[in-house]
Amino acid sequence: MNILITGVTGFVGSHVAQALLEKGHEVTGLVRHDEEVAALEKQGIHPAVGELADIELLKSLALASDGVVHAAASNVPGWEETNQQVVSTLLSTLRGTGKPVAMQGGTMVFGDTGATLLDEDTASFNPPPPMQGRVTLERRFLAAEQQDIRSLIIYGSYVYGGAGAAIPSIMKAAAQSHGYSAYVGEGHNAWASVHIQDWASLFVLALEQPQALGPYFAAAEVHSLKEIATMVNQATDNSSGVQSVTPEQAGELWSFFAQPLSLMNQRFSGEKAKKTLGWQPEHSLGATTI
Ligand SMILES: NC(=O)c1ccc[n+]([C@@H]2O[C@H](COP(=O)([O-])OP(=O)(O)OC[C@H]3O[C@@H](n4cnc5c(N)ncnc54)[C@H](OP(=O)(O)O)[C@@H]3O)[C@@H](O)[C@H]2O)c1
Repeated sequence: MNILITGVTGFVGSHVAQALLEKGHEVTGLVRHDEEVAALEKQGIHPAVGELADIELLKSLALASDGVVHAAASNVPGWEETNQQVVSTLLSTLRGTGKPVAMQGGTMVFGDTGATLLDEDTASFNPPPPMQGRVTLERRFLAAEQQDIRSLIIYGSYVYGGAGAAIPSIMKAAAQSHGYSAYVGEGHNAWASVHIQDWASLFVLALEQPQALGPYFAAAEVHSLKEIATMVNQATDNSSGVQSVTPEQAGELWSFFAQPLSLMNQRFSGEKAKKTLGWQPEHSLGATTI
């Protein structure tokens, strides 16, 4: 397959590109800057220089590909509208082709799972208010199967493995600057975890297998926040212990992620991916991998 990846220079896109290349596929990567071309070529990626907002370019690249991974993301104002336009373009361009189109997803759109381990059949959207727009987009994206597009969302919760991993980076930075690693209350709330390379390998399996469709949880293990805080402490030079904090204190430590890390459970099962696609996560969360 020749897979088009948006966001190929980013954390998610670069790992998916690497995983595809390792399985013998070709990758075309959309990049914004000429100076990134040489580095991509060195990795064996075919660069296509341009902006996501260039709809005609996106259409022609999508049509020339055997499938698409849309991993571009941004925090700039207007991003949500750009992203809606990108998804609309991909869906209208690939309608009727049966080609796979994959996006990443964050499981926070399913809300607090409580003590129950949820799977793709039992989880339903229940987003915190700021994520309502994302859910609207994901519903539209998943409905594309009715237009003969193989839409796939590969969901991750606590994604780790390298500097680009958002939640571990925030927890480690807070432990480094405050001298301790934190959890809230008893720290019994738990999150599913996945190493970025295992997340990427699930993208590849889902793209490769024609029966793959819809949502998949890339959930390898489940750990309590207290266990995760203990690993963060071990992994952080300046951190000399693990400490329970209040939700207010967590706000100062973890900014955007304070509320979900304090209060939410994100317990998900990766059994569907394992049983139906043969996904076998190779990494385990620990002080050396976090
Ligand atoms: N990082 C994590 O731990 C994590 C975990 C779970 C979910 N996610 C989600 O995964 C998605 C990707 O995250 P990430 O960490 O991979 O982000 P990232 O490292 O910041 O990468 C974003 C990518 O999007 C590209 N991009 C942004 N705006 C663009 C535009 N207008 N045109 C073309 N390309 C554009 C960037 O290109 P440039 O290099 O040109 O800037 C970059 O390649 C996000 O939605 C994030 O919430 C991330």
